[in-house]
Amino acid sequence: MAGSGKAHLRNRSDVLLRVEDLVVEFNTGPGQVVHAVSNISLDVLKGETVGVVGESGCGKSTLGRAILQLPKPTSGSVTYGDTDLTKLGEEEMRRTRRDLQMILQDPISSLNPRRKVRDAVAEGLQVWGTDKRQVSGKVDEVITAVGLRPEVVGSGRPSQFSGGQCQRICIARALILDPKMIICDEPVSALDVSVQAQIINLLDDMKERYGLTLIFIAHDLAVVKNISDRVVVMYLGKICEVGGPDDLFARPMHHYTKLLMDSIPQPQTGVGDAHKWSQDNSAAVDLPSPMSPPSGCRFRTRCPAATSLCAEKEPQLQQVGPDHFVACHFPRGSDGRDAALIPD
Ligand SMILES: Nc1ncnc2c1ncn2[C@@H]1O[C@H](COP(=O)(O)OP(=O)(O)O)[C@@H](O)[C@H]1O
Ligand SMILES: [Mg+2]
Repeated sequence: MAGSGKAHLRNRSDVLLRVEDLVVEFNTGPGQVVHAVSNISLDVLKGETVGVVGESGCGKSTLGRAILQLPKPTSGSVTYGDTDLTKLGEEEMRRTRRDLQMILQDPISSLNPRRKVRDAVAEGLQVWGTDKRQVSGKVDEVITAVGLRPEVVGSGRPSQFSGGQCQRICIARALILDPKMIICDEPVSALDVSVQAQIINLLDDMKERYGLTLIFIAHDLAVVKNISDRVVVMYLGKICEVGGPDDLFARPMHHYTKLLMDSIPQPQTGVGDAHKWSQDNSAAVDLPSPMSPPSGCRFRTRCPAATSLCAEKEPQLQQVGPDHFVACHFPRGSDGRDAALIPD
């Protein structure tokens, strides 16, 4: 399996969602194709939090949305339980979306400004024709669960609430359907730093309380570090590294993961080393377009370790630790030497 780049998939009964060879392409004009997601394979285990990180434009949101078939992927499969979601019709998919909810980056624009917040929370259940009293009780329950007081939410509209409160409301809106999984697409990126940790902690608490599985998308590695059971690093539509957060942070094997880590602001200076890194590498600032991704390894045009092999041959994900996989011909070693790959 290692040679196929799917070495990181698990043969386990507790796989909740399996994404296999997922491809999403957007036709944006004559002969113009955006390769947003290219052959991504990923397992999400029941009860797991999978962090997905990478720079803006690397395909994180497209991956999250394509799991929910919004839009339907160009090819590949998304297996939830025993069902390949790519094969479902509209109505069947609508039913399945009860289980698979999504929370977006900008909570304020996720809510209709003219609609009472309480109605927005209730909406998901109402469309299923649930009894009014039951809906009302459940609205109170989820609003309380996300740390708001139902009497305060009352008949308020989104503009009366802060960004953090609106994100709590969006979380309540997702929870009301008793989902199995929530895809959180940069849920704290638009919020003040002071409330980011509160929302992250809330999601973690909700996961425990409701037995959820989370996919947590962020462009910032620091955000996913503490809550993820596994972290997936994406670059230009592909996975370049997967690992448990401790191992990944202690031993980043992909040169891109290292670059992302160096971009985490240092407490002393508030500035990461990535700026310096990019000054040292003139190619580093030259971001390739997903319309014409580089041949072989997509990161090679920014990589300090790239050779001609990297242009010729695409590296597949291979195992470098018990739960650690990297797609690189010349992975970094923790001591500066090239790491040895575990053979197939
Ligand atoms: N509906 C769309 N039509 C055309 N291009 C799109 C569309 N959605 C996303 N893209 C492009 O796909 C790439 C990946 O985008 P996205 O998934 O939003 O990245 P991320 O969430 O990592 O910032 C980007 O180049 C983006 O411009
Ligand atoms: Mg995005």
